[in-house]
Amino acid sequence: MKTIIEPFKIKSVEPIKFTTREQRERILLEAGYNPFLIRAEDVLIDLLTDSGTSAMSAKQWAGMMEGDESYAGARSFFRFETAVKELTGLRYIIPTHQGRAAEKILFTLVGGKGKFIPNNTHFDTTRANVEFSGAVAVDLLNAQGKDPSLIADFKGNIDLAALDAFIKDKGRDAIPLIMLTVTNNAGGGQPVSMENIRATKAIAVKNKIPLFLDACRFAENAFFIKQREAGYRDVPVRDIVKEMFSYADGCTMSAKKDALVNMGGFLALNDEDLATRARNILIVTEGFPTYGGLAGRDLEAIAQGLEEILDEHYLTYRLRSVAYLGEKLVAAGVPILEPPGGHAIYLDAKRLVPHIPPHEFPGQAVVCELYRTGGIRSVEIGSVMFGRTDAATGKFVPAQMELVRLAIPRRVYTQSHIDYVIECVIESFQTRSQLKGLSIVSEAPMLRHFTARFAPLP
Ligand code: F0G
Repeated sequence: MKTIIEPFKIKSVEPIKFTTREQRERILLEAGYNPFLIRAEDVLIDLLTDSGTSAMSAKQWAGMMEGDESYAGARSFFRFETAVKELTGLRYIIPTHQGRAAEKILFTLVGGKGKFIPNNTHFDTTRANVEFSGAVAVDLLNAQGKDPSLIADFKGNIDLAALDAFIKDKGRDAIPLIMLTVTNNAGGGQPVSMENIRATKAIAVKNKIPLFLDACRFAENAFFIKQREAGYRDVPVRDIVKEMFSYADGCTMSAKKDALVNMGGFLALNDEDLATRARNILIVTEGFPTYGGLAGRDLEAIAQGLEEILDEHYLTYRLRSVAYLGEKLVAAGVPILEPPGGHAIYLDAKRLVPHIPPHEFPGQAVVCELYRTGGIRSVEIGSVMFGRTDAATGKFVPAQMELVRLAIPRRVYTQSHIDYVIECVIESFQTRSQLKGLSIVSEAPMLRHFTARFAPLP
């Protein structure tokens, strides 16, 4: 087999800025050792997120000029609505400015005190929106997904027995919906199998509870199904996507991922009454139902992006290029969450810097070191993001895993950029025993990882 190449050529380029190690040391200090507070122009390779960082295609940019900016009933809305309906089969399509806006509307309507939302793993904004409504977000990830070194095909699967037991325990009236996050971002970008989606749907139907997909990375999930699940090898990815959505009664979507745009999202529903109430909130918080939180040109770009994401040459390249990074790191002995996810490689900081305990934030220490070494920006997904202080005991409760995510923007970096990243990670790995932990200097009450400031421990 020949090399799997980037299935595009480059028409427009954006320079990246080189800095010295001394400059980066000062930049880190000024940013409170939090990569979210570093200016993007001071970053050489930005692996902070794959969200909103995609390179749009010539056709998407052309669509931007075609955008119909009418307040009501814009042509671009209908193109967008048709694309989403065609893909998801869902009836009511509500555009929002990004994924969390869809989550906010949904959980304002179905959440509230006394309610529970089970999910394979809630992403941070989903959890925050569930909790903000007064409801409880419950992660019921399959045991395989909790073992970072285990190699298995579908480590994003929800634990079906635990879900069944949970519904029996709380009662169906306390559970307004079940959610599945595809792929499971907070659990390493791992896919959920069709079998697991189907079985979750069966439990949902039995209990008369709707099933929702957090669909940000639906195409990557579908392509993993094609590659790994029996019976799907010869099924076009578009049909796999359609089958995935056929089990869903609704979805939230951040178009900033698998719709290949820089901004956008939607809420899609089958329940007419819920859709009416969602649109009422949309009008107050986002905008009129035919544009939501978006410009007409954004709706055009999403419609086009949803088409391009299903290109199997693209998906082959996408999953292969992430796996390439993972394989090179594993070969050098760097502990990562295995197997590689769809959109990112997650370094396992627990094994990488075992001398730094969770309350000294090992993941954050690695994040800082990667920036120091190579101007690479990554993000901690561990006790900074998910750790907390127990209100009753005042004790620190660490996150289940201490990960450092290297998220790969779509269609942005070439193999030589990734080779450079590999060199820098390996260099940091070789000096890991000298790395020290951090303490928090200041933090916000919610989603603290975005704004917290840290100081290195002596
Ligand atoms: N759900 C998942 C699984 C996500 O990964 C994200 C965003 C959201 C919902 C919220 O979407 O950002 O459009 O409001 N994830 C980004 C990330 C921020 O870096 O993983 P949003």
